[in-house]
Amino acid sequence: MLPLKNCNNIGDLRLRARSKLPSPMFHYIDGGADDEWTLRRNTEAFDDYQLMPNYLNDISHVDLSTNILGCGLTLPFLLSPTGMSRLFHHHKELGVSKAAAEAGTLYTLSTMATTSLEDVAAASDGPKMFQIYILKDRELTKEFVQRCKASGYKALCLTVDTALAGNRERDAVYGMTMPPKINRNNFFSYAKSWEWLLNMALNPDFKLANVVHRVDALGQGAMGLIEYVNSQFDRSVTWDDVAWLAEQWDGPFVIKGMTTVSDARRAVEVGATAAMLSNHGGRQLDGVPAPIDTLMPIRDAVGDKLELILDGGIRRGTHIVKALAMGANACSIGRPYLYGLAAGGQAGVARAIEILKSEVERDLALLGCSSIAELRSDHISQLNMKMR
Ligand code: FNR
Repeated sequence: MLPLKNCNNIGDLRLRARSKLPSPMFHYIDGGADDEWTLRRNTEAFDDYQLMPNYLNDISHVDLSTNILGCGLTLPFLLSPTGMSRLFHHHKELGVSKAAAEAGTLYTLSTMATTSLEDVAAASDGPKMFQIYILKDRELTKEFVQRCKASGYKALCLTVDTALAGNRERDAVYGMTMPPKINRNNFFSYAKSWEWLLNMALNPDFKLANVVHRVDALGQGAMGLIEYVNSQFDRSVTWDDVAWLAEQWDGPFVIKGMTTVSDARRAVEVGATAAMLSNHGGRQLDGVPAPIDTLMPIRDAVGDKLELILDGGIRRGTHIVKALAMGANACSIGRPYLYGLAAGGQAGVARAIEILKSEVERDLALLGCSSIAELRSDHISQLNMKMR
């Protein structure tokens, strides 16, 4: 197993995560829906765009600072929301948020987190966004909004592609359950990860910390946490509810899960600050396009009325540089930092951020740019698909 400091790229961190985690947990992070076509396409689609450098510019200083959602960040990428981080390392969301703050970027905390939004707010002073769902219980949804305001969250991010869970077959194949359950079929995959197992036994602090009070109020044993959250997903949510939520929040508001021009136009109409072009990392509807392929048409349609955050498939600095040149205001990453978390806790997340940061810095300079603002669409040439 490579030591953390010898992990040179996100692929190395993924391999280290794979050897540290029991198989059910690793494949829960790594997998996607159905045949995983969208999951693969999210990264492969970046290869359809080539970078076109201009040389002999002064690149003695390269500035990565970026403004998004009213926050000045030192990096052009943020951290996407991911649920149940305690499954991957005991540093869980606290470690992720501290690593993000130390790197000068924004962390998005999931509704499905294993740390409460208040504890994450208290742990670090970096900018934070809360990822929310419009739940059947609108009072609980409103309660989240109030709690985020009270805890100083900068932005709210509504995920719209998860009215029901995608079909993630690796979870069934590898015996992923929440909370984890060891049985005859998956015993060896847990036993090989003795460090993880020991830690889980010593600190079984696994709970969905943002909703646990609701389940407790229902009475002991009335319902499991996961069943409770699943029962709260509301298939009747429409754009009217989105407008209602934006009004409740009255601050920087992101809609996560946009793929089409028509939805992006609706996002402008309901007053969103930003759209996160995302397909949930290929974990929901298989067969939808990679976010990078949706970027240029959406930018053309909405002009500067929406900030666009490109989320999905990013594994290299060149992916970030391509997205920014094609019109994204910022990018966002999920699995890269989760591989880091599993590989080495907070230090692993910091390593993932550092790897991408240094790649972006080098790529910008090699492209002939001294800042993010200098990236333009003529730094990109689209491969002729018919020739490939
Ligand atoms: C996610 N994602 C996600 N999104 C969300 O809105 N709420 C959530 O709770 C989660 N949980 C979650 C768990 C895990 C294990 C993964 C891998 C992803 C999706 C996430 O925010 C993001 O959209 C994708 O991860 C982006 O794709 P990449 O960067 O992983 O390729």
